[in-house]
Amino acid sequence: MIITIDGPAGAGKSSIARRVANELGFEFLDTGAMYRAVTWGVMQRGIAWDDVESLVEFADAARLIWQDDRIYLDDQDISEEIRTPQVTSHIRYLADPPKIRERITAQQRRIATGRDIVTEGRDQGTEVFPDAHCKIFLTASPEERARRRQRQLAEKGQVITVEEILASQNQRDLEDRMRPVGRLRAASDAIVVQTDGMSPDEVRGEVLRLVRECVQASAANSAPSDVTT
Ligand code: C5P
Repeated sequence: MIITIDGPAGAGKSSIARRVANELGFEFLDTGAMYRAVTWGVMQRGIAWDDVESLVEFADAARLIWQDDRIYLDDQDISEEIRTPQVTSHIRYLADPPKIRERITAQQRRIATGRDIVTEGRDQGTEVFPDAHCKIFLTASPEERARRRQRQLAEKGQVITVEEILASQNQRDLEDRMRPVGRLRAASDAIVVQTDGMSPDEVRGEVLRLVRECVQASAANSAPSDVTT
């Protein structure tokens, strides 16, 4: 069974998806980490960002492994390295070209094959798993997302204004919404969860409730019907 959780940057998808997966005993896949990993790999090799052919070639050869919540590129665990602002600001070079998305999409489908999994990203319910059993689109206003991010960073001792966060977040939202393939949008059959004014616990509770409903409905649909003679 596949559950997709899509939404914009800073909507809290990763922590919710991880939590939902834990509660249901499903696996969890962070697809943003895959785009981040190939971006980091390109930075290490010094491939020019506008050399699309070489970027595609690199993405083709890259061995991405997602295991126990860690991401490996060619056997190297780069789970921390991929979270830098430098990686974030260059992801579009790998996330925009349709040919690269094709390869990463194929890897995501391969990882999900035969598994009960919660996958999280931008295009999971639209492009990658259009037949997913349950689709959630988790969102909040840009201001709310920026305020939450600021609080998270402050807890780690990083001081940055809401305006600064908002500016880079708006830029990412724009890039994510404009790409020709795999752009950020809710699937027509996704349940949209608007989380402004909700606490993290309330969001978790609501998403879990919706997913449980979906999983039950899906199990009921696939159960063999009674045969009466
Ligand atoms: O989720 P996260 O913020 O780590 O994703 C990083 C970037 O990777 C996103 O801003 C988006 O550009 C790209 N991405 C994507 N498709 C996905 C997941 C992430 O294009 N399924």
